[in-house]
Amino acid sequence: MQNSVCIADRLYWIGGNDRRLSLFESAFPVPRGVSYNAYVLTDEKTVLFDTVDEAVSDVFFEGLEHVLAGRPLDYVVVHHMEPDHAANLRRLTEKYPSAELIVNQKTAAMICQYFGVCPCRMRQVKEGDTLETGTHILRFLFAPMVHWPEVMLTYDETSGTLFSADAFGTFGALNGNIFADELDFERDYLDEARRYYTNIVGKYGAQVQAVLKKAAGKEISMICPLHGPVWRENIGWYVGKYATWSSYQPEENGVVIFYASVYGHTQNAAEILAFALGKAGVRNVRMYDVSVTDVSELVAEAFRFSHLVFAATTYNNGVFVNMENFLSDLKAHNFRGRKFALVENGSWAPVAGNCMAEQLSAMKDMTQIGEKVTVLSSVKEEQAAALRALAETIAADLK
Ligand code: FEO
Repeated sequence: MQNSVCIADRLYWIGGNDRRLSLFESAFPVPRGVSYNAYVLTDEKTVLFDTVDEAVSDVFFEGLEHVLAGRPLDYVVVHHMEPDHAANLRRLTEKYPSAELIVNQKTAAMICQYFGVCPCRMRQVKEGDTLETGTHILRFLFAPMVHWPEVMLTYDETSGTLFSADAFGTFGALNGNIFADELDFERDYLDEARRYYTNIVGKYGAQVQAVLKKAAGKEISMICPLHGPVWRENIGWYVGKYATWSSYQPEENGVVIFYASVYGHTQNAAEILAFALGKAGVRNVRMYDVSVTDVSELVAEAFRFSHLVFAATTYNNGVFVNMENFLSDLKAHNFRGRKFALVENGSWAPVAGNCMAEQLSAMKDMTQIGEKVTVLSSVKEEQAAALRALAETIAADLK
């Protein structure tokens, strides 16, 4: 049964939610599910903005049929070719044989690669081109690498609506409220929005900044992303989050201690440091055992905070593998611009500190503060004192 929602004059959401998916893109846990959004504009011409993932195809097609109410589908704007949005393109072109696909050059090539749809079904647009649909004028803005090279956005000049593709999306299914102002976004979605942004698009901060620059000159009344709630209030606040994340600036002053511990001694060192930070007046301290926390959450928390501590045991004459993977993932996301401190452990040849320093030095604008603390097997008073001194240094730097 269709489940479309009218979100503005002649504009409808026809997406769906998946709460059974365990790994989005086969990589990221989505314990709160994920929504796949598609939109239909029923102007003098009818326009569909994107399709949805295979998981919610049926409700999508039912919603489309309901909203069109017997009218033909004139245009399909394809913002992004990743299959969580484009999976139904072939079926759509077969079901609506007169629909014209509005694409760019890169999209056209990918549609042929994925589906073998005849180029005769496509109209190619260039940056800034417009499409008039009756009372609405749609302008196409390219957003390469947000999150694939073919991505484009549509700005509806008539209503001020920005169809933003993956940008401004979030993990987390929609649970009855479509609009961000109808729910407690900060409480229920912000952590997932950050995890979504940093892990999916985090590598492409410069490209996101370019899109924000393009959008800055436009009056935006509503943002319709491909995942998560639609924005019609407090848009500046959310755009501000994107400005912070994409410039790799910390969102909060505070300390995150990431530790990898095999038998608990490195954890003990991390805890002594954490409690010393608390005693020194630091009120924003987080701790994560990298062996039991999904790396997507670790990446998001690293983007969030200003001061990071990496504590790891030595393993195979290097760094414990989960810490090594985490640091490698941070590098892959172009992570940069943080203060960091190091704690290492080793029973005969501690090298984890130098190995972590090497990985961190491959990232831009990373500054080590305090002395590296070396633990030999278990923490003794000498190392506890060094950890307390490190905490004082971090606390002073935070001020
Ligand atoms: Fe939601 Fe890049 O696809």
